[in-house]
Amino acid sequence: MKRKIYITRKLPEPIVQRLSETCEVRMWEEDEKPVPREVLEEEIEDVEGLFCLLTEQIDASLLDKADKLKVVSNMAVGYNNIDVEAAKERNVIVTNTPGVLTETTADLTFSLLMATARRIPEASEYLRNGNWNTWSPMQLTGQDIHGATLGIIGLGRIGEAVAKRAQGFDMKVLYHNRSRNHEAEGRLDLHFTELNTLLRESDYVCVLTPFTPETNNLIDTKQLDLMKKSAIIINSARGGIVNEKALYKALKEQSIWAAGLDVFEEEPVRLDHPLLTLPNVVTLPHIGSASIKTRMKMANLAATNLLAVLEGEEPPNKVG
Ligand code: DGY
Repeated sequence: MKRKIYITRKLPEPIVQRLSETCEVRMWEEDEKPVPREVLEEEIEDVEGLFCLLTEQIDASLLDKADKLKVVSNMAVGYNNIDVEAAKERNVIVTNTPGVLTETTADLTFSLLMATARRIPEASEYLRNGNWNTWSPMQLTGQDIHGATLGIIGLGRIGEAVAKRAQGFDMKVLYHNRSRNHEAEGRLDLHFTELNTLLRESDYVCVLTPFTPETNNLIDTKQLDLMKKSAIIINSARGGIVNEKALYKALKEQSIWAAGLDVFEEEPVRLDHPLLTLPNVVTLPHIGSASIKTRMKMANLAATNLLAVLEGEEPPNKVG
């Protein structure tokens, strides 16, 4: 008898095929719409495996409906959408997809930094809107990237990969992390600093830490006030790490220069969100890991994790 699993979003055919070889697969067939909670609550009742995305809240009340559940396989490295403690109490294993998305997410983080610094979306709009009448000395001028100081908050895999890219731009790289990483400091010429020092000294601040109760609102008014007037903040981790009201105020009052945001407290972000009204904000719809190759690797790794648990093996990426 094949084991029953539920997939919460339409996946590429080869992944579904792979899972179908040993499992009875049911799947939410939509690509652009998340599975409604009531559907998920019903579907989870008789399955042993759940393949989910960061858009699903896997909490205690949902897990209570899943008597047979053995594994929640999240197709993301972040797993703040899952109550890992509640899963553990119910003997449900939680897995994620680290490693395979590191370089792609670092590429996007650095692209967002560059796009924000050099005002690329704004400049493109300027041209398309017919405003380009002549070349002018200070027209659409931005901030230099080469030779600037980059502050990385959260030196995990992605933080290191961003630091590597910064080397090519002759940047000085500061980092702040829960624990100091002497090995990475030597390898990548990094400087460990207190958070406040990093905020004071950096031209670019990249937020790359996981979202936890400790990092919720880590960057608030007090922290933003420490930043240079010419500084740019980039967040490609999770929305809740930077307080959006405080960020709006800092950007509106130009106490910092600009922000590049791939993530928001609430996603999808509302179109009337105040941050979307500011010219000095570059916004993206959470596409850090969105390359074709990487998304396939993430889906495959999530499938591997799920299948391992169902086959009674240790999954490669167990969390908690
Ligand atoms: C993750 O994996 O946590 C990203 O936010 C999406 O790739």
